[in-house]
Amino acid sequence: MRPELVKLFEAARVPRYTSYPTAPHFSARIGPAEHAAWLAAVPEDRPISLYLHVPFCRRLCWYCGCTTAIAPDTARPEAYAELLSAEIELVAAHLPGRVPVAHLHWGGGTPSSVGPRAFLRLVERLRRRFRIEPAAEHAIELDPRFLEPPTIEALVEAGVNRASLGVQSFDPEVQRAINRIQPADRTLAAIDVLRRAGISRINVDLLYGLPKQTVASCRATVAELLPAAPDRVAIFGYAHLPSLKKHQRLIDERQLPGAVERVAQFEAMAEALEAAGYVPIGLDHFARPEDPMARAAAEGRLRRNFQGYTTDPAETLVGLGASAISSFREGYVQNLHELAPWRAAVREGRLPTARGLALSARDRLEREAIERMMCDGAVDLAAVGARHGVAPQACITNPTRLAELERLGIVERDGTVLRVPAECRPLLRIAATIFDRYLEASPARHAVAV
Ligand SMILES: C[S@@+](CC[C@H](N)C(=O)[O-])C[C@H]1O[C@@H](n2cnc3c(N)ncnc32)[C@H](O)[C@@H]1O
Ligand code: SF4
Repeated sequence: MRPELVKLFEAARVPRYTSYPTAPHFSARIGPAEHAAWLAAVPEDRPISLYLHVPFCRRLCWYCGCTTAIAPDTARPEAYAELLSAEIELVAAHLPGRVPVAHLHWGGGTPSSVGPRAFLRLVERLRRRFRIEPAAEHAIELDPRFLEPPTIEALVEAGVNRASLGVQSFDPEVQRAINRIQPADRTLAAIDVLRRAGISRINVDLLYGLPKQTVASCRATVAELLPAAPDRVAIFGYAHLPSLKKHQRLIDERQLPGAVERVAQFEAMAEALEAAGYVPIGLDHFARPEDPMARAAAEGRLRRNFQGYTTDPAETLVGLGASAISSFREGYVQNLHELAPWRAAVREGRLPTARGLALSARDRLEREAIERMMCDGAVDLAAVGARHGVAPQACITNPTRLAELERLGIVERDGTVLRVPAECRPLLRIAATIFDRYLEASPARHAVAV
């Protein structure tokens, strides 16, 4: 991408649009009563998705932007798992019956930190309270540094079929600068062991924009990873928000690359992956052509939810665990973020809802337009407008911004279709803002746009 375009937007702060409206706009006006009513209104026969959040890790990575806490052994995570089990009961009791589940996702933190026995107990509880479909996708985020054989055995027994591994960078200097020492051979061995055990679908997370990272080290990381042939690779830009994540102050800001360098790092990794046959998907994903995500993207079926890009078409996503977000036809609810109040609510048999948002008709329209832009890099205003009873032009929330992006060549218009050219893909989030009427209210909470 042209450096002058990058420079224009280097100070911009925009959401990642894993939901719309985004979480900073949720409020306490929506609470446990709405949560209970929306759970009760979930259709009994349509598959839903489950997200389970486990906010514990053994060691702190200094760049980490996730909701997690450090637990060097399994005592606290095991106690958490007991309450998570109670929350499963509580939520299931509000649902109209034993609803089918087609997607399960364990995120964190590092969900395997609960230990193999507690993990299996949780899955057993889920199977008792939900109809997990035989072909369901059962995914988990794993840290290759802490993947002992009993954990892998438990994952296999539980029916896990997709693992998402945190890698970030293989460069030892970068690893020292982020407090995450993870030799490449160990990561590659973990992928091999998981596949041999039957967990064949492997995703890998890489980062760019880390301290001491360079274009050369980014290229080298991809080259080291390619022999393992992961099914999907996500390349996230390091989001540095030390005012919200205090431990990020441990990172030496003088070692952070600037915006032009960040984009060059992303482009170098993208180029290497595409040269190896990976298909670029949305803002930051790459998949082998036969992977379901590549097929969904090609067919316009790709979706975006709180975990990022997904093939999951479900309308209902039930989130469990501290800070987890649920998505219903009516709107969003988020669980209490802090562990102590979350624990107290679950112990007392109350839904641990902190806040949420009821979707308006305009929210739904803008949500669809933003999702298509983030997933397809293009939006057909006529198609979106027709589904929401609005003229194509009236779908645009911020015409001034659209005019500016068109002038810069970041958005092109073809009839009623707005499209971001492939070389401007790092600016997809900027393009999505033309449909975002909440944006101005919370710029400080978002990471840089490029
Ligand atoms: C929950 S972690 C993955 C599982 C496990 N905890 C691990 O790190 O191996 C999710 C992913 O979020 C990404 N991530 C974490 N902090 C980030 C940040 N500040 N900016 C961008 N991405 C971040 C990393 O790529 C990480 O692999
Ligand atoms: S990146 Fe993963 S392992 Fe590191 S602290 Fe964050 S959640 Fe834990």
